[in-house]
Amino acid sequence: MKNLNGIAVYTEGNPSGRQLIFVHGFPFNAGMWRKQVSDLAEDYFCVTYDIRGLGASEKGDGLFTMEMFADDLFMVMEELKLEKPVVIGLSMGGYIVYRALARDAGKFSAAIISGSKPEADGNEAKLKRADAIRKINAVGAETFIRDFVPTTFWKENIPLLGSDYTEFLESLFSAPASSLKGCQLAMAGRLDNTFVLESLTIPVLFICGEHDTFSPPEVMRANASQCKKSTFVLIKDAGHLAPFEKPEEVNSAIRGFLSQI
Ligand code: MLT
Repeated sequence: MKNLNGIAVYTEGNPSGRQLIFVHGFPFNAGMWRKQVSDLAEDYFCVTYDIRGLGASEKGDGLFTMEMFADDLFMVMEELKLEKPVVIGLSMGGYIVYRALARDAGKFSAAIISGSKPEADGNEAKLKRADAIRKINAVGAETFIRDFVPTTFWKENIPLLGSDYTEFLESLFSAPASSLKGCQLAMAGRLDNTFVLESLTIPVLFICGEHDTFSPPEVMRANASQCKKSTFVLIKDAGHLAPFEKPEEVNSAIRGFLSQI
């Protein structure tokens, strides 16, 4: 692990291989991608990092913005001297990727969006953020995580994953309430980046779990249809956390996409 300006960064694989940089979702950390890295690092240089406030990154004061999260992504790329990597974002990580693409798509050779969407929160979504913050204040970070994380999986997969799921869940408990609330506010305040879809000239892979309730297949399919060079892959029997729930299918979609670009 390297600490780059307060951000915990992990690298694996051959540094001269094609570079992939992964951006995780809320309330996870870089470990969310371990089933991708353990496979893809055989052929690619994989970079994961803990988003500010989460995992082993600096907790700070919890006053986060989506712009700060995009700044951190660019900072990690610059510090590691990545040359036009393929950027991969899941959910909140996808919001960060969309923002980075809106700011400077020329820094990337391709993008992979898993369970995410480019638009800003509408009123209903903002009210859900307010409820999430109320809940964190009322029950604390750990209980919030315990209750929230199952909503990101297709419920049938949780008993099948067994200890893999419980160990993953427990690895998230170090996130402090201030970071969880800060992420909610950053997501609530993010810009609408929908315009990016039509302007992108790089290839984009969209990965969507069949039962994803956060970014459902019809929404992601519509996003994909607005991009010039897009591929849409539906992961059967998976929810929002398809890369963790169905790693073989997701990794094979990523490998297939990378082999064609
Ligand atoms: C995530 O999975 O990163 C978040 O739950 C997405 C969101 O709350 O919009």
